[in-house]
Amino acid sequence: MEGKVSKRDMEHRKTPGSAHILVGVTGSIAAYKAAELVRLLRRRKHEVRVILTANGAKFITAETLQTLSGNPVRCEMFAPNRPDTLEHISLSDWAEILVVAPATANIIGKFANGIADDLLSTTFLSCDCPVVLAPAMNVRMYEKRVVQENIRKLQRLGVRFVGPQEGELASGATGKGRMSSPEEIAEAVTFILGRVGDFEGHKVLVTAGPTREMIDPVRFISNRSSGRMGLAIAESAARRGASVTLVCGPISLPLPSVSKVVNVVSAEEMNSAVLDNLTGQDALIMAAAVSDYRPTQMAQHKIKKATGPMRLTLQRTDDVICQARKKASPKTVIVGFAAETENVIENARQKLSAKGLDLIVANDVSLPDSGFEAKTNVAALIWPDGDIVQLEKMPKTELAERILDAVLQLIHSKQPGGGD
Ligand code: CTP
Repeated sequence: MEGKVSKRDMEHRKTPGSAHILVGVTGSIAAYKAAELVRLLRRRKHEVRVILTANGAKFITAETLQTLSGNPVRCEMFAPNRPDTLEHISLSDWAEILVVAPATANIIGKFANGIADDLLSTTFLSCDCPVVLAPAMNVRMYEKRVVQENIRKLQRLGVRFVGPQEGELASGATGKGRMSSPEEIAEAVTFILGRVGDFEGHKVLVTAGPTREMIDPVRFISNRSSGRMGLAIAESAARRGASVTLVCGPISLPLPSVSKVVNVVSAEEMNSAVLDNLTGQDALIMAAAVSDYRPTQMAQHKIKKATGPMRLTLQRTDDVICQARKKASPKTVIVGFAAETENVIENARQKLSAKGLDLIVANDVSLPDSGFEAKTNVAALIWPDGDIVQLEKMPKTELAERILDAVLQLIHSKQPGGGD
């Protein structure tokens, strides 16, 4: 940590309820509104740091933003006498949300295409947190196909957009391109951060990780699940206010702070843990990769090798999610995962209907950076009525939020008067 800006951050204690908000300001006439945004965010008790791009600095001074944010404003990627050459990493580690307001066509293009040639674009690339962009540009630029494609690309990657609004533009023309008001942007940020409380009063049971089916005291059958997806869901649900019970197979990642953790090893134990904890749950999210087979018998002692092939007899384990569907109240939202390597959507749809689920998260685990062990996932959300949302590659933490958004809607729809 020597010499890193984040050393101070590490020592810095957050006020409860506040968030670390990183505001990017780029070169548009609307940059003056960033001052008000920073002020509003501070007023909402958030901690704010600002990255001002070189063009942004032509419209608003670092001093203004520094005074309003209460923190030094970062402008350059490389500056003499600055010990922290990895500032983009320390800033993205620090940030819980990145808000770029105003976001020019230029920065949108850079973000959409992975160009990292200044502190803001480099920080975006190393960011794992939600990102909100408030575009501001001339209507003709905004309507340009390449800009629209960049926006759509970023949206598919999970970046959120606030605005732009229709109205009078700096050029005197009228049209879409005007940056949303600081109040609207602050509201959107609060809404995204405010997912923090949207599961308040709801109980969610999440399973994570693989199971192990013992062959003998030292060997087992398992799979490559790291548990990362389930843990991300459990963590977000807890952060959003749910009372979370986490049923966890053997995993090595740190566990989030949730209401209850039940550690299990085998599919049988996972089955019991899920069924025992099911009553009163508003949702069950089965992200665990449960073994479908176990050795018919576990050898009491380590099996010694012999010449010739070895035959291992396996038997089916219980399908936990099917058992849960039978036992749970119809009001309990049940979400499954379908980790597939071929015919992803078709196989997932079959599982969705065969298992009586309310939602299935289908992912192609044969793709690079998707599924087991990866930090990112490429998934599609599929509902029983045939609706499907194909998401692009995104961090599992972000996918967790998307899944929970869908789960919350389903919970509401199953409540009296919810239209289900
Ligand atoms: N699942 C379960 N119990 C099992 C196997 C799977 O509850 N014994 C759940 C998983 O947690 C997941 C969903 O069922 O949410 C689909 O799991 P998957 O392994 O993709 O499907 P299977 O039904 O096992 O089908 P197959 O292995 O043949 O693809």
